[in-house]
Amino acid sequence: MIYEIPDGVCMTEGLRLAKLVVYGCQMNERDSETIAGYLGKAGYALTEDERGADLVLYLTCCVRGNAEDRALGNLGQAKRLKKARPGLKVGICGCMAQEGWVREALGGRLSWIDLAFGTHNIHRLPELLARLDSGERVVEVWDFPQEVVEDLPVLRKDPLKAFVNITYGCDNFCTYCIVPYVRGRERSRGVKEIEAECVEAAGSGVKDITLLGQNVNAYGKGLAPADGLERPDFPYLLGVLDEALPEGIRLRFTTSHPRFVDDRMIEAVASLKKVCEQYHLPVQAGSDKVLGMMNRGYTASGYLAMLDRVRKAVPGCAVTSDIMVGFPGETEEDFLDTLAVVEEARFDAAFTFVYSPRKGTAAEAMPGQVPEEEKKDRIKRLIDLQNRISLSVNRGLVGKVEEVMAEGPSEKDPGMWSGRTRTNKMVHWPETGVAPGRLVRVRIERARTFVLHGTREDRT
Ligand code: 5AD
Ligand code: SF4
Repeated sequence: MIYEIPDGVCMTEGLRLAKLVVYGCQMNERDSETIAGYLGKAGYALTEDERGADLVLYLTCCVRGNAEDRALGNLGQAKRLKKARPGLKVGICGCMAQEGWVREALGGRLSWIDLAFGTHNIHRLPELLARLDSGERVVEVWDFPQEVVEDLPVLRKDPLKAFVNITYGCDNFCTYCIVPYVRGRERSRGVKEIEAECVEAAGSGVKDITLLGQNVNAYGKGLAPADGLERPDFPYLLGVLDEALPEGIRLRFTTSHPRFVDDRMIEAVASLKKVCEQYHLPVQAGSDKVLGMMNRGYTASGYLAMLDRVRKAVPGCAVTSDIMVGFPGETEEDFLDTLAVVEEARFDAAFTFVYSPRKGTAAEAMPGQVPEEEKKDRIKRLIDLQNRISLSVNRGLVGKVEEVMAEGPSEKDPGMWSGRTRTNKMVHWPETGVAPGRLVRVRIERARTFVLHGTREDRT
């Protein structure tokens, strides 16, 4: 990713280049935009080429072992680059930097790293970068977050789309998940602050806003009473934003926790025009035994009943999910329960994961760890089933006319234009030069597993 040099950059010390390498989820993507903002203010322009960079900063993820392994592999490369060019500074931040073993390694085998900070002290970056500039090795990782920090800079990657944090951290402690340990307890931003960021984004040309949190529908914990409510909650926030934002803006949110979906939330999504008909509702597993061991707080039938209510209120809404195989103790029978729930839920799409033991989580110590071969076999069967369902759901859209927000030329075929439906499905149609952000109507003619094809209906 390459960013423009933002206004107000201090150029007195000359232009420096930084490469920011981002792993993981949308939370990290959003953090990368804040870090990019700080780097810009410190006089760095961003580059994609580490060979010319003065600073390479790894924004890491540790939710699964493979994300961690990738970051460690790339750090090894950076170490070699630094040997060849000792002036190069290398930094690590994000979720891995919060982990105990990484913090220990920073005093040992990772002691060649010049800069390390965690998820709770990104706002300290101006001072940390200044200290780095003065020749100091800077390692500052906080154990716990402070109160929510506001007025962070942002350098958005996409002029059309904005991510806006509404909560940080997570209180759920699903037994497989490391997130509560590396991102801390759940904190909510104030309604006014969220509203201001959304309105500012819309004012600067953003057309598609995604509200972000590990668990957005638990929003509001710890906030003061508002508008006759004991505390603002997620449906209230959606209502405020729907009213404050200009026409034509699309509002989305992720991730929702199935346990916190209630009638007020369903009603808000159904009635508010700017809120898109799209839910991401991770089911994780289909066996009640496994769901219990995961500490998810619902049963398979409870999940499906909730889905029913969501779909009745918003016909045609898209539902995506996260599904995991190979949780400790998962038998073939439990896995078949997952397939049965997936069959019944008919998700539009799903992210599928192989369980990966994470240090310090409850599941790491559970008996019955599933052999790798078994996990591989299960994930393949799960993906096959979900792909068949995604294709079948998409085929159901053939013949329908969808409101599509134009994004730009198709990556594969520059003679085609791409955009997204309100349900966030990618659509290609034969045309060029449609302004990004423009809403067009496309009749769907062909469906694939991950993409739809059609033709413009509204062209004169
Ligand atoms: N192993 C595999 N997948 C995991 N996820 C979270 N922790 C793990 C883990 N230890 C998945 C969950 C979650 C998604 C973001 O990542 O499905 O919803
Ligand atoms: Fe992890 Fe569960 Fe929190 Fe999601 S809800 S971040 S899976 S602990």
